Amino acid sequence: MAYVSIQEAMDKGSGEVELRGWVYRERGSNKLKFVVLRDSSNHVQCVIDKAVVGDEKFGLADKLQVEASLTVKGEIKKEERAPTGYEVHVTDFSIVGECDRFPIRSDQSRDFMDDNRHLTLRTKRLSTILKIRSTYFQVREQFFINKGFYRFDPPILQPSQCEGGSTLFEVKYYNDKTYLSQSWQLYAEAAVFALENVYDAAPTFRAEKSKTSRHLSEFWMVEAECAWKDLHEISELAKEELRYCIKGVVEKHEEDLKSLGQDVEKLKKIVASEWPTIKYREALNLLKEKKGMDVPFGKDLRTIEEEKIMECFDVPVVVTHYPKEVMAFYKPADPESPDEALCFDMLAPEGYGEIVGGSQRSTDIEAMGEALKKEGEDLSNYEWYFDLRKYGSVPHSGYGVGAERVIAWICKLDNIKDAIPFPRTMIRWKP
Ligand code: 4AD
Ligand code: MG
Repeated sequence: MAYVSIQEAMDKGSGEVELRGWVYRERGSNKLKFVVLRDSSNHVQCVIDKAVVGDEKFGLADKLQVEASLTVKGEIKKEERAPTGYEVHVTDFSIVGECDRFPIRSDQSRDFMDDNRHLTLRTKRLSTILKIRSTYFQVREQFFINKGFYRFDPPILQPSQCEGGSTLFEVKYYNDKTYLSQSWQLYAEAAVFALENVYDAAPTFRAEKSKTSRHLSEFWMVEAECAWKDLHEISELAKEELRYCIKGVVEKHEEDLKSLGQDVEKLKKIVASEWPTIKYREALNLLKEKKGMDVPFGKDLRTIEEEKIMECFDVPVVVTHYPKEVMAFYKPADPESPDEALCFDMLAPEGYGEIVGGSQRSTDIEAMGEALKKEGEDLSNYEWYFDLRKYGSVPHSGYGVGAERVIAWICKLDNIKDAIPFPRTMIRWKP
């Protein structure tokens, strides 16, 4: 007989099955033992009866600890009282890997759980999030495949900054130094002159000095860059992508999302609703009129301001036209209103903050050079990038989505650390 997954066995519903997995729970008497077996597909209760397996085997079963791995052979039957509605009456089993007392229990501290991340990954909660994360990336890839985009892989080691020198991670590079990628963007801009429409999913690194529930030092940015698109078109694409991803995750994970405490109907409503686009100046007006906050034009929005703006909405909102002065060097001024940049952020509801950042890209070498010089950058590092403007440049735009921020929002997590398998923050880089 061939092994089947627990889900396949339950779909079959009756007859003999062979399963393999791990002990999720166990209890019993000196005659009967109930072992809830888990694999990546589901859980099922297995009943080990001394009268069926014999004294010697039953002795082994009696010593089984939570998280021991085993193979099981038996008859599956419907059983209303069992946790997942089925029960396997075991005729034989073998222990594959014995288990010491499993150190992870639900009452332990966050630090203890994080120190043992290699083990906590198996908990119901984290494995559920891992599955949703997997679906999110798969669905998102499908979105761009459907659109005919090319996948483009940027370098991770990059000689210069894209989002400000202060958060660069420096890497010793033979006898020189280089940096870990803060964004694929500058390389994607090179790619669009060959491939026009590209996307990626890439590890991204920022030496964030803030210990917040929204910042990781290593995260996955999923980006898109398109030739010929302007600010309006690119921000609409970002909305379409996010909508598609949430829909795909909800379709596959209703029960999982509910188990994490998420309101699935609310997500469905978000998918079906319009997502507004407002200008930064309108956002400031909202803050003044609805929240009594007087924020002058000229700064990036802080977390508290984003939160207050989003108290006025229950769907994601695109905010465009931030003050040019404080934006990254590559974000161009709006020719019709030069103190504003042709850029956007997408803010998520319920305090999840900025989930997307994007812009049209400047084609003005001089203005970019000036901005970079102000930041103390060596312009010779950007010559290749300026070349892109010299050889048949076209209007182009792109954006980056913080994958973990989106996952944290969809899964209703209170900390972004649980949206990535092995989180790295200012104070955690192990295991
Ligand atoms: O807004 P950011 O900095 O934009 C860029 O890097 C652009 N170059 C992207 C582009 O246009 N291709 O970062 C994009 C998104 C943010 O909106 C946020 O969701 C996420 O990346 N992000 C982080 N997520 C987790 N931890 C951090 N430290 C993050 N920093 C940014
Ligand atoms: Mg940003």
